[in-house]
Amino acid sequence: MNPITVPCLEDNYCYLLPFVESNTAFLFDASESSPILDELSKNNLVLDSIFLTHGHSDHVSGLKAIRKAFPKAKVFGHSNLSSKFKGLEAMTDGQETKLGEVTVKSIHTVCHSDSDICFLVKSKNKQFLFSGDTLFSGGCGRFFHGTPEDMCEALDKISCIEKNTEIYFGHEYTMSNLLFAQSIEPENQEIRKEMTRLKSIKNSTPTLLSKELKINPFLRLSEKSISNSIDSVSGSELSEQSERMRVIRELKNSFKP
Ligand SMILES: [Fe+2]
Repeated sequence: MNPITVPCLEDNYCYLLPFVESNTAFLFDASESSPILDELSKNNLVLDSIFLTHGHSDHVSGLKAIRKAFPKAKVFGHSNLSSKFKGLEAMTDGQETKLGEVTVKSIHTVCHSDSDICFLVKSKNKQFLFSGDTLFSGGCGRFFHGTPEDMCEALDKISCIEKNTEIYFGHEYTMSNLLFAQSIEPENQEIRKEMTRLKSIKNSTPTLLSKELKINPFLRLSEKSISNSIDSVSGSELSEQSERMRVIRELKNSFKP
């Protein structure tokens, strides 16, 4: 059981998680209907459930047509999406739902939007995190709804899960994220290695949590190399993690690779 990546729109990723024995699948995000419906049909899969990582239009635009094609598919997401999508089953923070052979745990990470959930899928021998626009490879989502404290809390929750978890993220932003990461930590050899690897591949998803902890500056705010770099830009010694989060996000927002 491995997720199938479905590139959508300009740089979005949606994912199908197929269950071969039952010919069913879960879908994570519904950016665009046709590539998703094509992939389901190519693999002869019936859609069982749809999980929404948040409600931004580039993640839900295909939902109506997909539900029309699979009217029995359940839809799971944050309660803040309930009024927008009829029949949505809201998942609370930490809620686990056993569905067939896997357990899906909802991890609330509201900050990028008002409805962010990362879905942790646990099977017998593997686990996957569908992280939407909360965590990317080399970066994190912008704070359209929440505060730096909220993003610290969200990323702390993700940092505690098993390090060998595969992370399936919502956008292909990896190379520009790593260019920024390198500007913050020029001596980090892991970032350099990952940039070299990316030159020969088109889609960088999935990543591993163990790798992100070595290359992603937003997960590394307590590292000396990062705090020194942020302190020197801000001109003062920042003691709070959330202050460093605020500064590094502002730096990323204005970064020109
Ligand atoms: Fe988004």
